[in-house]
Amino acid sequence: MRKKIIAGNWKMNKTPSEAVALINELKPLVANDEVDVVFCVPAISIVPAMEAAKGSNINIGAENMYFEESGAYTGEIAPNMLTDVGVKYVIIGHSERRDYFAETDETVNKKVLKAFEHGITPIICCGESLTQRQQGVTIDFIRQQIKIAFLNVTAEQAATAVIAYEPIWAIGTGMTATSDQAEEVCAAIRACIAEIYDEATAAAIRIQYGGSMNAGNAAELLAKPDIDGGLVGGASLKPDFGKIVNYNK
Ligand code: 13P
Repeated sequence: MRKKIIAGNWKMNKTPSEAVALINELKPLVANDEVDVVFCVPAISIVPAMEAAKGSNINIGAENMYFEESGAYTGEIAPNMLTDVGVKYVIIGHSERRDYFAETDETVNKKVLKAFEHGITPIICCGESLTQRQQGVTIDFIRQQIKIAFLNVTAEQAATAVIAYEPIWAIGTGMTATSDQAEEVCAAIRACIAEIYDEATAAAIRIQYGGSMNAGNAAELLAKPDIDGGLVGGASLKPDFGKIVNYNK
């Protein structure tokens, strides 16, 4: 039985002091031992967020990480900077990073490998554009993203990974994928993992849905057999996030 994992992706929102205030506000609302809860926050807020989340069930994650150990990479965050402060999760390859910061399937793969090397669980994002959905190539496109992201990743590592299926057309638009649309792709992702590795790895890996998830649609999405959690943007910055985390109560 896979434990659900519900992660907030704060994107470029909240100053460090606002982050602390929001965590203090949400802490009692997101208590649910049946779910892994992760807040992925801007790098500058990771340390104060860790401090604020102490003693709660909230894990603090990063929104990005570079694939080199150290050196002349101005503005980047190295994996050991994250592990040094206790970060266990990092979002890799969000569509916004692919669109605005030129990340590719190849850099996603490098980051995934580097995260595993440092014992950080990657939340690996994939998802099609509206045009690709209309062209009927969604599954082909996602399979390619997954196959490249997992190049040289061992089955043992893959079993611990988190994949976030986020249709680009559903992100920040209020246009959630229907639970059937989300399930179709999440099931295809699991089948792809089974093809690359084996059934046991596919059964272990956790697959989230992301894209306008909110308190009103979370329970239906999370009831689907291949949807093991959510990656939540806008609604993770509000008390509503507590309702998403407690979708089963
Ligand atoms: P929204 O929940 O705001 O649509 O964002 C989804 C997302 O991109 C999470 O990574």
